[in-house]
Amino acid sequence: MNMHSYFSMFIQTLVFTVLATTTFSALTPNYYDYTCPNALTTIESVVKAAVQKEHRMGASLLRLHFHDCFVNGCDGSILLDSTPSMDSEKNANPNIQSVRGFEVVDEIKQAVDEACGKPVVSCADILAVAARDSIVALGGPSWNVRLGRRDSKTASRGDADTDIPAPFFSISQLIKNFNNHGLNEKDLVALSGAHTIGFSRCVQFRDRIFNDTNINPYFANKLKHICPRQGGDSNLAPLDVTPAQFDTSYFSDLIKRKGVLHSDQELLNGGYTSALVRKYRRDTKTFYKDFVKSMIKMGNMKPLTGSQGEIRYNCRKAN
Ligand code: HEM
Ligand SMILES: *[C@@H]1O[C@H](CO)[C@@H](O)[C@H](O)[C@H]1NC(C)=O
Repeated sequence: MNMHSYFSMFIQTLVFTVLATTTFSALTPNYYDYTCPNALTTIESVVKAAVQKEHRMGASLLRLHFHDCFVNGCDGSILLDSTPSMDSEKNANPNIQSVRGFEVVDEIKQAVDEACGKPVVSCADILAVAARDSIVALGGPSWNVRLGRRDSKTASRGDADTDIPAPFFSISQLIKNFNNHGLNEKDLVALSGAHTIGFSRCVQFRDRIFNDTNINPYFANKLKHICPRQGGDSNLAPLDVTPAQFDTSYFSDLIKRKGVLHSDQELLNGGYTSALVRKYRRDTKTFYKDFVKSMIKMGNMKPLTGSQGEIRYNCRKAN
């Protein structure tokens, strides 16, 4: 080898090291390859069956990962039940009578622990993989999920109340909330595209259909049958016209002023965010590409790694 190739090798190594320590987190897609080679196929088969049985479950599992990551990082904290000394995040405003899918997570955990012969896969990683598998089961994009998150020993209801964005937020509040999590306007629009699947309760969109002006009046009237001025708080409306298909209908609905949540329609009140909504409506490939990138970014938020936290035996309680 000559001087020049030694030098370029040195540079390559340097660049790789810098990237490995900054751009990439400690998480890696191959994390369970040796300790539990069947982990991912096991999770996939439970998720597939659950989503086949009830399409909405795919949406509910995706939302669990989001609500986990936005509260002190992706550490499985949302799965912990209350104890005498700790109030569960399940009781926080954005979650109570709203988040679901915990039985499926329990089922996955049991199956994966059995497949591994011991508990090596964290509940936080289960949520990240189940989110991806749900999206795939509903016709969306796939990607390699970075793994190696460990589970928290505690949860914070208070942090869940402050850190998860609310459906009555304005565009500037949404942007600020995402910025606080290290996410930008593109992440906001791409990840809001998750509302291409699933449902919302009436209580979350009643003010929008009765009081907002940036709403299609026929659409508002239709929703008022599901969601009257009084009563019916837990009646459900699909978040877009195709709630069991991971497509771009969410964005075409927004253009028609048929966003279900106030926060959805707010995306068209921003400069750059409006442009992205228009782009994603026409361009499935770009939406998928940006969505996957933002999902990986969200999944990398403050994971517990190394000897931090633990691998729970039961996702509902600390060991
Ligand atoms: C941008 C700020 C966001 C706000 C204000 C918001 C708010 C909401 C609300 C109010 C609901 C209905 C909950 C209920 O009926 O009780 C909902 C449902 C849902 N959200 Fe979001 N969300 C946001 C972002 C996200 C993100 C980033 C994801 C995932 C990447 C996501 C995934 C979902 C899914 C899949 C559902 C349907 C769940 C089901 O049917 O069980 N949301 N969201
Ligand atoms: C609409 O706005 C009025 C006036 O601010 C408020 O009293 C009411 O609770 C809001 N929501 C609905 C569903 O009317």
